[in-house]
Amino acid sequence: PRRHYHEKVLDHYARPRNVGTLDKSDKSVGEGLVGAPACGDVMRLHIKVDPETQVISDVRFKTFGCGSAIASSSYLTELVRGMTLEQASKVKNTEIAKELCLPPVKLHCSMLAEDAIKSAINNYYKKNPDVKPTNLAGREAKLETPATATATATA
Ligand code: FES
Repeated sequence: PRRHYHEKVLDHYARPRNVGTLDKSDKSVGEGLVGAPACGDVMRLHIKVDPETQVISDVRFKTFGCGSAIASSSYLTELVRGMTLEQASKVKNTEIAKELCLPPVKLHCSMLAEDAIKSAINNYYKKNPDVKPTNLAGREAKLETPATATATATA
């Protein structure tokens, strides 16, 4: 049967925002690479982080997946650009699914986007062990913290 995608999905699918990659040899670039076990779709996300403010200044994605996965990642890039890592780590797939009006059967596609941003943030922290996750007002806090950042989620 023919799938009826919401027009917002179609728009992101037809004109995906921020497709591509960033130079991951750059210390300030974090990479997230995640897959959806259910369907085998794969999403790669690169974020560039301002080391002073921990604000995401650039973000690119490449998704090999269904229309909803592509739309979810495209929308995600627009959403997290300009956010601090702390803010971006709180993005929920339900927020993406709601914006794109994804039906229940497509919820896991938006989950891929949530996983991708979390994975990219973790990767950034791993590459920058001197940077600790800070709260929104804690811009200076990282200067005092010793280089013992522990990863909250290790593979
Ligand atoms: Fe698996 Fe969409 S069907 S990511």
